[in-house]
Amino acid sequence: MLRTHTCGQLTKDDIGKEVTLCGWVNARRDHGKVFFIDLRDRYGITQVVFLPKPYKEAYESGKLLRSEFVVKIKGEVNQRPKGTINPKIPTGFVEVLAKEVGILSPSEELPFPLEEQIEVGEEVRLTHRYLDLRRRTVLDKLILRHKFNQAFRSFLNQKEFLEVETPFLTKSTPEGARDYLVPSRLNPTKFYALPQSPQLFKQILMVSGLDKYYQIVRCFRDEDLRKDRQPEFTQLDLEMSFVEEEDILGLVEELVVFTFKEVLNKEIARPFKRISYAEAMKKYSSDKPDLKEIDPKCAKDEFRFLWVVDFPMFEYNEEEKRWQALHHPFTSPKEEDIYNLEKKDLTHIQARAYDLVLNGEEIGSGSVRINTIDLQKKIFKVLGISDEDAEKKFGFLLRSFKYGAPPHAGVAFGLDRLYAIISGSESIREVIAFPKTQRGISPLSGAPSYVDQKQLGELYIKAIEPEKD
Ligand code: AMO
Repeated sequence: MLRTHTCGQLTKDDIGKEVTLCGWVNARRDHGKVFFIDLRDRYGITQVVFLPKPYKEAYESGKLLRSEFVVKIKGEVNQRPKGTINPKIPTGFVEVLAKEVGILSPSEELPFPLEEQIEVGEEVRLTHRYLDLRRRTVLDKLILRHKFNQAFRSFLNQKEFLEVETPFLTKSTPEGARDYLVPSRLNPTKFYALPQSPQLFKQILMVSGLDKYYQIVRCFRDEDLRKDRQPEFTQLDLEMSFVEEEDILGLVEELVVFTFKEVLNKEIARPFKRISYAEAMKKYSSDKPDLKEIDPKCAKDEFRFLWVVDFPMFEYNEEEKRWQALHHPFTSPKEEDIYNLEKKDLTHIQARAYDLVLNGEEIGSGSVRINTIDLQKKIFKVLGISDEDAEKKFGFLLRSFKYGAPPHAGVAFGLDRLYAIISGSESIREVIAFPKTQRGISPLSGAPSYVDQKQLGELYIKAIEPEKD
């Protein structure tokens, strides 16, 4: 270990100790002959003082330090002189008198200042995301993310859920968006698709008898991007066997109450309010009404959860002149509405689906699933998917249903959206370590990029330049 303590660790109890700290030079203040630097790492900031005597060598080296140099400082922990104590930070009672200074890595002048109060354009921040992440408020969002992810895992593990990884190189599971395709070198002209969600695999895991599954998983969708949409985003995905709507809704409420208490020490009241899709549309012209706007008494930092239920099973796509599933084709219609399916009265079929809305944003969505081949094929037919097409695209799910498919249901949460709301972020890009811009570009790595002909040739692919207009 190069250090004995972190920059957030030293307190009154350490006075008199000899310590070694490593970190970045946050700021430097000169007071005549004496000067100070604030040394920063992930854990906090410690003040280091440089005096011309008796540690002259350290003093001279200290003069060379500039902002964002990475340094190692050995010194003695002293109480700060009266009047210079900073009770606002945990290390504010002490300072380290520098005895030895080592420069571990110098830094050029930064492309933008790291002070939180200075606004910097997103493009430049994302290009140098490593610098952006040195800012406390930005780092805190990743820490929040970590804590919630751990709390979700802890809750679900306790409930005997199994975390299972599903494939990234898979077959397309059309759920409304375009797929990202990956060419298969070993199977020329064939493509994998990156999953839009693990939907089919989690259902198959239920057929396997896993009973309770979850995964914190990356999903990929090639759709138009907005502030609440990224081409790759993260879901908390879960599925259970032998359950109905109420079981999933109850579990989710328990999960939310547990994690908000655990991570934020916030009490969330349950049961959550519920509203039918029809009522939401009629009253608020939205399928994700914001309870905070509706209730004038609501505090700014309050979290208002709302279930939207009783969704129609199908909606008519005027542009494409065809019916499509409002959720996805694996959602079960309500038992009592199935006869309308026979009558081809598609407007009067409700789905066993539910959305979770938080402060006016859809953060989760799920349903009770179809678990018979017969009904699944009927739904495909309504959606214009022939038996042959269904076999081609979803044959692997349908086949599994032949061998004992339990009733099952599940839900998936958009974690980026959830964390953006909790942290009061403008866009989900703020809570993702290395996000893409609205044009799907990573300013940091420069992805996507051209590849050379040789690489394309190995994949039997020829790139066609788009026509310029
Ligand atoms: P759905 O498509 O509704 O359901 O996705 C679930 C949740 O994921 C979030 N989300 C997104 N977040 C960021 N960027 C995106 N491009 C994006 N797209 C979706 C939303 C949404 O509520 N397999 C089903 C779930 C199920 O039925 O269990 C599914 O993926 O917060």
